[in-house]
Amino acid sequence: MKQTKLWINGIWESTNETSKLTAPYTGEVLANVAKASAGDVERAIEGAHQAFKSFKNTTAYERAEILYKVVEIMRERKNELAEILADEAAKPISAGLTELDRTIATYQFAAEAAKQSTGETIPMDAAPGVKDRIGYTKRVPLGVVSAITPFNFPFNLVAHKLGPAFAVGNTVVLKPASQTPLSALAMAEIFKEAGLPDGALQIVTGSGGELSETLVTHPLVKKVTFTGSGAVGLKIKEKVGLRKITLELGSNAALIVEPSTPLEKIMKRCVGGAFGFAGQVCISLQRIYVHSSIYEAFTKAFVEETKKLVVGDPHNEKTDVSAMIHPDEVSRIKEWIEQAKQQGATVATGAEFTERTCSPTVMTNVKPDMKIVCQETFAPIVSIVPYETLDEAIALVNESELALNAGIYTNVLTDAMKAAEEIEAGAVIINDIPTFRVDNMPYGGVKMSGYGKEGIKYAVEEMTDLKFITMKLNYE
Ligand code: SIN
Repeated sequence: MKQTKLWINGIWESTNETSKLTAPYTGEVLANVAKASAGDVERAIEGAHQAFKSFKNTTAYERAEILYKVVEIMRERKNELAEILADEAAKPISAGLTELDRTIATYQFAAEAAKQSTGETIPMDAAPGVKDRIGYTKRVPLGVVSAITPFNFPFNLVAHKLGPAFAVGNTVVLKPASQTPLSALAMAEIFKEAGLPDGALQIVTGSGGELSETLVTHPLVKKVTFTGSGAVGLKIKEKVGLRKITLELGSNAALIVEPSTPLEKIMKRCVGGAFGFAGQVCISLQRIYVHSSIYEAFTKAFVEETKKLVVGDPHNEKTDVSAMIHPDEVSRIKEWIEQAKQQGATVATGAEFTERTCSPTVMTNVKPDMKIVCQETFAPIVSIVPYETLDEAIALVNESELALNAGIYTNVLTDAMKAAEEIEAGAVIINDIPTFRVDNMPYGGVKMSGYGKEGIKYAVEEMTDLKFITMKLNYE
């Protein structure tokens, strides 16, 4: 059986403790995964700090070349990497290939960002009494970045941390999700081959309080970037003190469908947004508010399209929805659906379970305070709710404390702009589902959905300090 190690200072290191990694779809044991101790994490952080002393002085050209090389290697290994996603995350192979295409784009954006990090000149003489001074800003790297990543996009959400960090000369200690370490460890090899200096990337696997505590409180860590649950994000925020922090947390993404929408043209897209990767996506379409005049037609078409989805083996190219990440997640969501049913909700289709899967589920007659509506389900469940006026729909969207992306379909310009202005969310997506994301757009929630932005250019800002430099041109 495969035995994984920690990646510390460019060397694979064994640990005393290990834990078994099982495939979510088959339950088969995939590997014995190294479990880092707090001491291992300390050494990784110290190593990253040492590496920073020289990595910060590499040129933008050199850093961009490393990232371009990563792009090249990932293109060559794409199919093999997609198999890792199918094994350890039960990500259907087609979705895995899409994730890899996005990851390649993310590293490419990062390579380009390395060459585009600029500052500005400050008009010093605009202040009263000031003359003969030059002033300018530049972006400088912070040092060691602790990156904690989730299981749902094991390559691309790692890329959103490593790419911008390396673009500007930071070093990183990465702790991948305990469910998906194999993809992160594959990145160690890829970065090594691409020429990243030893120590610039450290990978510690495992889980547990001490490990995480060290990652977010060690004095040499200058920035924490976390994607995951709101509960964990809040705990991290309480601990980081004055360190910079970015939190990408969950959501219960909403979509408004106005009466002007050609339903036949959007149905496949909406169903894909609700059930892609079994809904285990922070911007998975979870709440659909449909104008009452088209509610019946929308719901009927949506249910029909949902029934076409293939649930099964992630390695099968025809599979749309596979296992949830762990059987406990299936039990949780089964309970949430049961609770909603008892409170009056109706299952329009789905809610069929095996130990490892939940079939794509459409719920109607839901109420705003049901768990399946007001909390992040992170499961293949969507609710469809009728509304009468756009004001009412916007109020329903805004009722949630979670607010990452929201969407609206309408061909009425004034309604689109009203929604853009009034919806409280990190992004408003007009004429598409809230699940839309490309990797150079700003991405990050408001309210309880996050703190700070990703999207390479924006992550670069959050992973650098703005340094100001001024020079007096004479001694008078
Ligand atoms: C996430 O689940 O946070 C990321 C979604 C995406 O990148 O598409």
